[in-house]
Amino acid sequence: MKNEDFLAFVIEEKNGIFIRSFQKRKISDLPVGDVLIRVHYSTLNYKDGLSARGHKGITKNYPHTPGVDAAGLVEYSTNSKFKIGDEVMLTGYDLGMNTSGGFAEFISVPANWVLHLPSGMDLRTSMIYGTAGITAAICINEIESRKIKPKDGNALVTGSTGGVGFIAVGMLANLGYNVIASTGKLDKTNMLKNLGAKEVISRDEVNDKSNKPLLSKRWVAAIDTVGGNTLSTVIRSTEHHGAICTLGLVESDKFDITVYPFILRGIALIGIDSAEKNIELKTELWQRINSDLKISNIENYVREVSLLDINQEIDLILQGKQFGKILINCMDL
Ligand SMILES: NC(=O)c1ccc[n+]([C@@H]2O[C@H](COP(=O)([O-])OP(=O)(O)OC[C@H]3O[C@@H](n4cnc5c(N)ncnc54)[C@H](OP(=O)(O)O)[C@@H]3O)[C@@H](O)[C@H]2O)c1
Repeated sequence: MKNEDFLAFVIEEKNGIFIRSFQKRKISDLPVGDVLIRVHYSTLNYKDGLSARGHKGITKNYPHTPGVDAAGLVEYSTNSKFKIGDEVMLTGYDLGMNTSGGFAEFISVPANWVLHLPSGMDLRTSMIYGTAGITAAICINEIESRKIKPKDGNALVTGSTGGVGFIAVGMLANLGYNVIASTGKLDKTNMLKNLGAKEVISRDEVNDKSNKPLLSKRWVAAIDTVGGNTLSTVIRSTEHHGAICTLGLVESDKFDITVYPFILRGIALIGIDSAEKNIELKTELWQRINSDLKISNIENYVREVSLLDINQEIDLILQGKQFGKILINCMDL
């Protein structure tokens, strides 16, 4: 097995330029791990785009294979929890960051990153949700833990046509929240409404430049995937004792804010790090993704591509032009 060749999507750094190609690698090139997995599916996340673009906050050393998500069959295991042929998945931890990731036919990883699929879920479905799904579920868990209920007010999702965004819209709607979806793609209004959004607004409406410390109250809960002045506007427009989950930076990693929304409205700003969330909570939330958080018409928002077509999909996600989820088929290459 050690000398077996497999195909991997590889980013190389040459004179400060990051070059993408497919290369043959050997199993022995992979890090020594407890579990060797034959990848069937991965999925595209914004973080993979950043890794491919040479973002050193994500990936320090190149050559490197991105892909923070993977699902497949156990090919070899030194850990008694996993047997050859088991269907498994993993999202986050160091996969695709500095550990060779899911944009390849094989990964080799520590056993404590790996999960069996929830009963009744298949490999393909697990990667439709992937990191985006578990992140949306973590946000909802945080909002619920603040005892914010659907009857308390609106729930906003920004970047709502993106991977995390559209799943958050669907999951919140499932639970009965009155979802406001903010988007730069108003032509996708009907699709967001079919997912359960009650109102679809332009992202310009969530980008206040007045510098007022407080704005009219519009939502009691928010899941913000974009950061920057959008996040500042979201915070300033949140109702008393509301909660905002901040998880993304597609607009900017900086935002300006005063303390007033916190000390006059008592709102909570909750940082989300799905990659390193403990595996027990992830396991629990995957069960919910398979039950009350499951989005019945999710297939309408998924485009399946071969790993061989990943290059153009990375360009699109970096330009903010993707809609829904890009599922990556890593078989039959
Ligand atoms: N903290 C965590 O645990 C965690 C986990 C997963 C993802 N993330 C982060 O969350 C963010 C979203 O990830 P993703 O995979 O969902 O990405 P994605 O699929 O590319 O979605 C991002 C969405 O943001 C909107 N957008 C793009 N450029 C924008 C801009 N300049 N200003 C405002 N909105 C813009 C677009 O939606 P609209 O056109 O609908 O506005 C886009 O579809 C990324 O920053 C990612 O790194 C963090």
